[in-house]
Amino acid sequence: MTLKENVSLKELNTFGVPAKARYFADINSEQDLSELFADEKLRQVPKLILGGGSNMLFTQDFDGLVIHMNIQGIRNRVDGDEVYVTAGGGEVWSELVNYAVDNEFAGMENMSLIPGSVGASPVQNIGAYGVELMDIFHSCRAFEISGGTIRTFTKEECKFSYRDSVFKSAYKGHYIITEVTFKLSKSFSPNISYGAIQQELEKRNILNPKIKDISSVVSHIRVSKLPDPKTIGNAGSFFKNPVIPVGKFVQLQSNFPDIVYYPASEGFIKLAAGWLIEQCGWKGKVSGNTGTWKNQALVIVNHGEATGNEIYYFSELIILSVKNRFDITLEREVNIL
Ligand code: EPU
Repeated sequence: MTLKENVSLKELNTFGVPAKARYFADINSEQDLSELFADEKLRQVPKLILGGGSNMLFTQDFDGLVIHMNIQGIRNRVDGDEVYVTAGGGEVWSELVNYAVDNEFAGMENMSLIPGSVGASPVQNIGAYGVELMDIFHSCRAFEISGGTIRTFTKEECKFSYRDSVFKSAYKGHYIITEVTFKLSKSFSPNISYGAIQQELEKRNILNPKIKDISSVVSHIRVSKLPDPKTIGNAGSFFKNPVIPVGKFVQLQSNFPDIVYYPASEGFIKLAAGWLIEQCGWKGKVSGNTGTWKNQALVIVNHGEATGNEIYYFSELIILSVKNRFDITLEREVNIL
């Protein structure tokens, strides 16, 4: 484990905005973490855990220690019909999905091509096309920063909900996820609840989709709707889909009969933030170096040389106009630093 100083983070965040870290450490094992936290000099310094940098907006330099998680390795254990797949926190999420698809382990295929790392995936309970991480999560190992010990978290202990977990709330900043175990299956029943998957399967004349077909269809839908961070900086959905009480929804729907919504927990409705933003005229809008994506208004992009502050300011304008029009306050899904 080597400690570096004044390291550029531009290539390490998918928005591609400029920022620097005062200290920077690449972590390749749990042992590396123990060594890092034994260093007296670093004890009082603020710390930031960085995985794939796909859910983060830097609005300033980080005057502390960036801990870049790079722990690799994927292994599996078959138990009858079940397969337990364990991956290092530094593995790239979409490569883990490819590994599962290639081995015909079912459960992850709807989450193909989500950017980011395995270690970050439980933090915000990533999800797409009808499946959330919590549906296939078994357990994870995490390093406790204050005590320097390793703890295993079960699914229940993670307290998952929509784009949320205990790692974003009660234990925020307390643990670093080093390894995640998923419970997949050798028998497969496709999840085609998301309309666009069904339509694309029909278009391809696939009646009995295999795991690889679902993965291919989901990848196709993603590529057609979402910008590739390798060519246009972005962090996926910038805002969460707002969850509101049914009473408020009924009122809104009477004013806006076309409003797009999904069922949520009892007494609540989830609204499509992309629709709200589009209705306010923001879809595909370009403002200086930033803007929203032409095919998905929920995604804010960096058209080249945007700074984090420019993107942040742009997101404030969106929040204000959605508030004015619908009386809904959008919350950012992306972490702001
Ligand atoms: N819509 C619009 N205009 C837009 C965008 C969306 O009207 O510009 C409406 C459309 O009716 C569309 C509906 O909203 O049918 C839903 O849009 P989409 O299918 O793109 O899904 P989303 O709700 O906007 C969520 C996740 C995405 C995930 C997709 C697919 C959140 C915040 N976002 O987006 O996750 O890929 O569903 O499951 O929950 C991410 O978290 O970074 C992410 C990309």
